[in-house]
Amino acid sequence: MRRMGPEIPKWFMILSVCWLYKGVTCNSVEQKIYVALNNTVPCVRLLNATHQIGCQSLKSGSTGVLHVLQSEADLDWVLSTGPHPPYMVFMEASFFNNVTMMRLKNSTRVAGVAVVIPNTGPAQGYSPHTGCPNQNTGVYSEKYGPLLANCNNTVWNPLGNGLSYEDFRFPIFSLKDDNETEVIRKCFEDHNVAANGSAPQYPLCAMQLFSHMSAVIDTPTCMRRNHLQNSFSINPDMVCDPLRDYNVIAYLRPVNTSTKGHKANESVVIAATRLDGRSFFWDIAPAAEGTVAGFVTLLAAAHALFPVAQEVPPPRNILFTFFQGETFDYIGSSRMVYDMQNKKFEIDLDNVHSVLELGQVGLWNRQKLWMHSDPISRLNSSVEEEVGNLVNNIKFVASQMNLSVEEPSVSQALPPSSFQRFLRVRPVPGIVIADHEAAFVNRYYESIYDNAEYLNVAYPSNMSEAEQLDTVTDTARSLAEAATLVARSLYKQAGGSDPLLSNITADPKIVTQLLYGFLIQPNNSWFRALFRPDHQQVLKGVQSNYVGVRMPENAVKESTLLFQYILANLTGKATNLTQSQCQNPSDLPEESKDLYSYMWVKGPVSANETEGSPYCVRASTRLHEAYSPAFLLSDYASKEYSTWTESRWKVIKARIFLVASQELEMLTLGVGVAVLLVSLLVTYFMSSKAEILFSSARETSTTTY
Ligand SMILES: *[C@@H]1O[C@H](CO)[C@@H](O)[C@H](O)[C@H]1NC(C)=O
Ligand SMILES: *[C@@H]1O[C@H](CO)[C@@H](O)[C@H](O)[C@H]1NC(C)=O
Ligand SMILES: *[C@@H]1O[C@H](CO)[C@@H](O)[C@H](O)[C@H]1NC(C)=O
Ligand SMILES: *[C@@H]1O[C@H](CO)[C@@H](O)[C@H](O)[C@H]1NC(C)=O
Ligand SMILES: *[C@@H]1O[C@H](CO)[C@@H](O)[C@H](O)[C@H]1NC(C)=O
Ligand SMILES: *[C@@H]1O[C@H](CO)[C@@H](O)[C@H](O)[C@H]1NC(C)=O
Ligand SMILES: *[C@@H]1O[C@H](CO)[C@@H](O)[C@H](O)[C@H]1NC(C)=O
Ligand SMILES: *[C@@H]1O[C@H](CO)[C@@H](O)[C@H](O)[C@H]1NC(C)=O
Ligand SMILES: *[C@@H]1O[C@H](CO)[C@@H](O)[C@H](O)[C@H]1NC(C)=O
Ligand SMILES: *[C@@H]1O[C@H](CO)[C@@H](O)[C@H](O)[C@H]1NC(C)=O
Ligand SMILES: *[C@@H]1O[C@H](CO)[C@@H](O)[C@H](O)[C@H]1NC(C)=O
Ligand SMILES: *[C@@H]1O[C@H](CO)[C@@H](O)[C@H](O)[C@H]1NC(C)=O
Repeated sequence: MRRMGPEIPKWFMILSVCWLYKGVTCNSVEQKIYVALNNTVPCVRLLNATHQIGCQSLKSGSTGVLHVLQSEADLDWVLSTGPHPPYMVFMEASFFNNVTMMRLKNSTRVAGVAVVIPNTGPAQGYSPHTGCPNQNTGVYSEKYGPLLANCNNTVWNPLGNGLSYEDFRFPIFSLKDDNETEVIRKCFEDHNVAANGSAPQYPLCAMQLFSHMSAVIDTPTCMRRNHLQNSFSINPDMVCDPLRDYNVIAYLRPVNTSTKGHKANESVVIAATRLDGRSFFWDIAPAAEGTVAGFVTLLAAAHALFPVAQEVPPPRNILFTFFQGETFDYIGSSRMVYDMQNKKFEIDLDNVHSVLELGQVGLWNRQKLWMHSDPISRLNSSVEEEVGNLVNNIKFVASQMNLSVEEPSVSQALPPSSFQRFLRVRPVPGIVIADHEAAFVNRYYESIYDNAEYLNVAYPSNMSEAEQLDTVTDTARSLAEAATLVARSLYKQAGGSDPLLSNITADPKIVTQLLYGFLIQPNNSWFRALFRPDHQQVLKGVQSNYVGVRMPENAVKESTLLFQYILANLTGKATNLTQSQCQNPSDLPEESKDLYSYMWVKGPVSANETEGSPYCVRASTRLHEAYSPAFLLSDYASKEYSTWTESRWKVIKARIFLVASQELEMLTLGVGVAVLLVSLLVTYFMSSKAEILFSSARETSTTTY
């Protein structure tokens, strides 16, 4: 009986609203038709020692009347003349620049922004990154080369407009140009465009974006809240997580990884590059020229070098390192240097002979590569001599190959590079190889447009996957030459003999397959064959090079795991160990987990079978934690180490619907509230008088028992 109470207001409300407004209005109030937008990516909030950057919506989603930006006049409409603020601005990517965005940011009439991202960037270039990447955490500062600090003599990324480092109080989502954006445009045209510039009539098309962020202010603040939650709550509601993942490394000659600190008689040449990138939007980081071209080149170099160097080992060891999280103030390299300093890594800095780093190389097109070095450490005569040797080794190899490799014509700072983190602690000799003499040639640095298309990795649309994997693109050919140069230079730098240099040649086929896998389709037959049989579904996900956060804390990002398997395939040996031996090789006399990693892989699958024949690969590859020392030391305001964290959130979604006028909605609400009050009164009356009202019914029920 009592259960009837709450039911009254609902049907009564619907009835009264329909009775008040009839027909159409009744429908639009009672059954708002939401159209979910399924292909959106938000911009999220990140925090460092002192700032928050990125975007967020209101807690219950930010809603605004949709307005499509097509001209300056539309901008005026949004910012001042339009009668229905706040507006949800829907724009083409050409408006997504710092001038327009800063005007929107400054206005209280903007509820949020949705940007349609095309596949190719604007011809004049576009970079939402800063002009001076990792400005405060490289080697240059007031104390070290003050004249070179803050990109004073070379602005590396002159196109950088800094949008990725702004703090927006409204949500910004990206959309692909597809059917969904057509639905949005149609909704706008049908409802929000009034003839001759007059105000459009309700109902209007509105958009709602949800991307509320839990963390605020900066990393010290959010880590403090995390600790409070952890200590006082059974279900801790964490607000932010440090950016973290793993570096991937491989030794030419395996070293015992269970002994840490200095190794007698080890002199190691480090061959480095980075693994990660970013863009304005969360988890979109194609970084084709920015990152992928570099690591593909180093992978191909390792593949070319290993067989020869294992046959005729050079006197020095070579450590291939792929640093993770470098985009965010050098997370991976700063951690490796920290571990080397604190005897938590298998070698220490005294073991490091020299560093050869690969920067951006994807656009060199067999023209010219540049050898960057640090003028400050070269003031030291022994470093100068070692850098000179390294330069001569590379030049020697280049002249053999008929390639042009030069040092920049004027003395300048090192470009942003992991090598700077080594120089921060001691003057290690080293070179950074890149395709730019001064400013980056990359016109889309850390942007969504730094993609396969920009690197010219493209195939005719009617090609099968097998044919695409087999097609050696021009980009692959030129990167293979760079890889040969790097591999031979490393062999020579490690003391290998000249006559064998010509035995080391990178395979353009491997380069083309790597580019295909990392830029176009990770779920291809080659990647499937060399990956774990139980993780194959991972390959279906879109590959992103954004470092991200880990849950649980020691989890490995799937794409990093895949990378380790690829490196193992390229540098390791197939063994005849069984699956259980592969898990526990220490039982076998000639195998050792101190020296090698053992990986069970799926193996190639021929056309007439489904399973392939899995086998065990032995390789000297390892994962090394890329977790900023700032968090190990609980120094969340660190000026020395990266402090970047990513906020948590509960809901990310986007949808459009029609809204009635505010007056109408207020009236509806008012009627609803009135009806609710009346019904509460009625309920109260009915329940207080229930004895009287329902006494007969009650009596009948008792008598039946
Ligand atoms: C921001 O808005 C204020 C007034 O609301 C104006 O004075 C100021 O110039 C604006 N700044 C920018 C960058 O548009
Ligand atoms: C920038 O470099 C120029 C010379 O290259 C120097 O004169 C100037 O003082 C430097 N500025 C700073 C802030 O160090
Ligand atoms: C926008 O970015 C350009 C570099 O692309 C810069 O020169 C300009 O000062 C920036 N404008 C604003 C308002 O930040
Ligand atoms: C944090 O990020 C902001 C925005 O990029 C930057 O201005 C500031 O210098 C950074 N703080 C530290 C300590 O690096
Ligand atoms: C997009 O539209 C095209 C034609 O307009 C249609 O063939 C296709 O199925 C649509 N795709 C989706 C996902 O609705
Ligand atoms: C998004 O997906 C939902 C459910 O699959 C569908 O109803 C909706 O129409 C989709 N949105 C668009 C804009 O296609
Ligand atoms: C818009 O204005 C033009 C002339 O200025 C007029 O001919 C036309 O009928 C108007 N359209 C509407 C829908 O009012
Ligand atoms: C690696 O070092 C540990 C500790 O010194 C030692 O027990 C182990 O036998 C070594 N492994 C190999 C393969 O030399
Ligand atoms: C190097 O190449 C030469 C000639 O191609 C060959 O005879 C020799 O065996 C190779 N050496 C190694 C270590 O691969
Ligand atoms: C790497 O993968 C290729 C193709 O599946 C295979 O032929 C080769 O044996 C693999 N190498 C190792 C060491 O697993
Ligand atoms: C694996 O190969 C080695 C030689 O490479 C051989 O001694 C060993 O018996 C083989 N083991 C099995 C299980 O086939
Ligand atoms: C699969 O095909 C290959 C040739 O393509 C053949 O040699 C092999 O016997 C076939 N295997 C099975 C199980 O049919």
